[in-house]
Amino acid sequence: MSYNLLKGKRGIIFGALDENSIAWKTAERVHEEGGTFVLTNAPIAMRMGQIDVLAKKTGSEIVPADATSEEDLANLVAKATEILGGKLDFVLHSIGMSVNVRKGRKYTDEKYDFTAKGWDVSALSFHKVMQTLYKADAMNEWGSIVALTYMAAQRTFPDYNDMADNKAYLESVARSFGYFYGKEKKVRVNTISQSPTPTTAGQGVKGFDGFISYAEKMSPLGNATAQDCADYTITLFSDLTKKVTMQNLFHDGGFSNTGVSQEVIEYFSK
Ligand code: NAI
Repeated sequence: MSYNLLKGKRGIIFGALDENSIAWKTAERVHEEGGTFVLTNAPIAMRMGQIDVLAKKTGSEIVPADATSEEDLANLVAKATEILGGKLDFVLHSIGMSVNVRKGRKYTDEKYDFTAKGWDVSALSFHKVMQTLYKADAMNEWGSIVALTYMAAQRTFPDYNDMADNKAYLESVARSFGYFYGKEKKVRVNTISQSPTPTTAGQGVKGFDGFISYAEKMSPLGNATAQDCADYTITLFSDLTKKVTMQNLFHDGGFSNTGVSQEVIEYFSK
């Protein structure tokens, strides 16, 4: 169902790789709600993914950018405001990658070049995106910036590896930048802490199938899907959440506040 919540709003959506991506579902929902946007992803992901299909479907243009490159980001922001015809109202940062995870290195055996690269892509890139927008004065007042995170930032999930540290940094950047952006430009900045979701990035985590089933059994409402996440993000981009900022918002069917569920007790009582 569409409510026209984003009518007249313009933005940038990072991270739509394929139709499972959280950013993909969000782009579809933003389009349904009347928002217009530029799609972006790393140049290499353009070749691997299907972003062209999404661009066609939503009438959007694509501007490639490696989110670790200040030059690419400056170009992206300049092009996006030009293409969309004005300053921006929303930005979605939906980017994550750990080289240690990809190469099968355990948390106790990190290769630090890999760690630094993963941190740059997954965490520092959020600061780079916001600093670029801020310096270009590219956001409208009451604009909204959202990044995606995971609860491993607060609690240990052994196989989440160095992504846990990256997410902790990402959430801190949201608070710190959110202060300055709020005070000086009335722009809000939040992170959504999403349930495990079967996407390319999600399935890269070792033991993902067990992980997602466990979360499903532990969440009173069940896991939040990518589609649910898209719906939630729309509310944060809308004018209905103007005073929500510097928050890490759990979107996980209640998982984060559940000590144990009946299903899990029964499983261990067998
Ligand atoms: P995905 O694999 O579809 O999206 C990750 C995106 O990051 C891809 O589009 C990829 O091309 C992009 N990316 C990687 N390196 C980049 C770079 N240098 N510059 C620009 N873009 C780059 O997976 P998903 O799950 O949709 O991931 C989106 C976000 O959601 C990530 O931040 C992820 O950590 C977060 N998240 C995912 C969960 C899951 O279980 N799938 C749970 C909680 C959070």
